[in-house]
Amino acid sequence: MTNKIILSVKDLSVAFHKRDGSTYAVNGISYDLHEGETLGIVGESGCGKTVSSMALLKLISMPPGKIETGSAIYKDGKDLVALSSKELRLYRGREIAVIFQDPMTAFNQVMTIGDQMIEGYVEHFGCTRKDALKEAERLMDLTGIPAAKTRLKDYPSQFSGGMRQRAMIAMALMCKPSILIADEPTTALDVTIQSQILDLMKDIRKEFGTSIMWISHDLGVVAGLADTVNVMYAGMIVESADVDELYYNPLHPYTKGLLGSLPSTDIDNDQKRLKSIGGYPPILSKKIEKCPFADRCSEATDICRHGCPSLSERTGQHYVACFNV
Ligand SMILES: Nc1ncnc2c1ncn2[C@@H]1O[C@H](COP(=O)(O)OP(=O)(O)OP(=O)(O)O)[C@@H](O)[C@H]1O
Ligand SMILES: [Mg+2]
Repeated sequence: MTNKIILSVKDLSVAFHKRDGSTYAVNGISYDLHEGETLGIVGESGCGKTVSSMALLKLISMPPGKIETGSAIYKDGKDLVALSSKELRLYRGREIAVIFQDPMTAFNQVMTIGDQMIEGYVEHFGCTRKDALKEAERLMDLTGIPAAKTRLKDYPSQFSGGMRQRAMIAMALMCKPSILIADEPTTALDVTIQSQILDLMKDIRKEFGTSIMWISHDLGVVAGLADTVNVMYAGMIVESADVDELYYNPLHPYTKGLLGSLPSTDIDNDQKRLKSIGGYPPILSKKIEKCPFADRCSEATDICRHGCPSLSERTGQHYVACFNV
């Protein structure tokens, strides 16, 4: 990516400290997000995709959550990590908007969709309610909600799951955010609606030039949408590369395993499908001191069990955290 950097995350670590123990959920991740870039974030359940992204806006429960180290420099030069929750209010939804997996949690059930959509907009742009409603209608229309004008008067419960997801995307776009964080927004939807939403995201990127962080455990979906992919494991980024480079030339044994377990659409290839990775990810109750993948890795050597590799560049813009590649 040669575009301007819009968000630069350095050495971000997040832990949860509770009375019965700690969870080291994110362990020193660094990456840049560029203008107009779609960054896919992939990895198994529990690897820290949600926590690492939501921590940027302090949308995790703190305490018990705590940002232990790191910075996240936004394009205006401010470090989001250093801002108070009150200061972050000016960024949430306006500069950086979030689309959650479950829209029910994002909407207020006792307020109409229209009123919720225009709330931040009126304040942000200082315009009239009427103008705000017009923009809300335009975006509902753009996201494929029929009869947008009347549906703005509906409550969230009157929308179907797919419609609610579209409405949440429309709402996220109201303030023209520079960054859209989409946390598995299509996982709960059926395949047809899923692909419509993905097409919609591509249109949005074209119309608004928004940078998108797309979190998913579905490598197929990410392949069709992302420019760059970060593969996460045990709260670390273990590999990062341009999407084609990552899929055609994976270097980390974990990425290779993930790609090996992609269901194939090629019938001849059926034998090979779903070759899953044996074993389980580590329990994150301690700070990471050795390669977290070593116990599941067929290529692991002694060095992997005694130290933790850091992410470093191999060929141009292809980064990997492994002692053996
Ligand atoms: N509020 C919390 N208190 C304690 N631990 C938490 C909390 N929220 C998340 N965690 C832990 O942090 C780790 C990372 O969780 P996270 O939700 O980021 O995973 P994920 O990659 O988004 O997984 P999924 O694909 O299932 O959504 C997990 O071990 C999880 O149990
Ligand atoms: Mg998650």
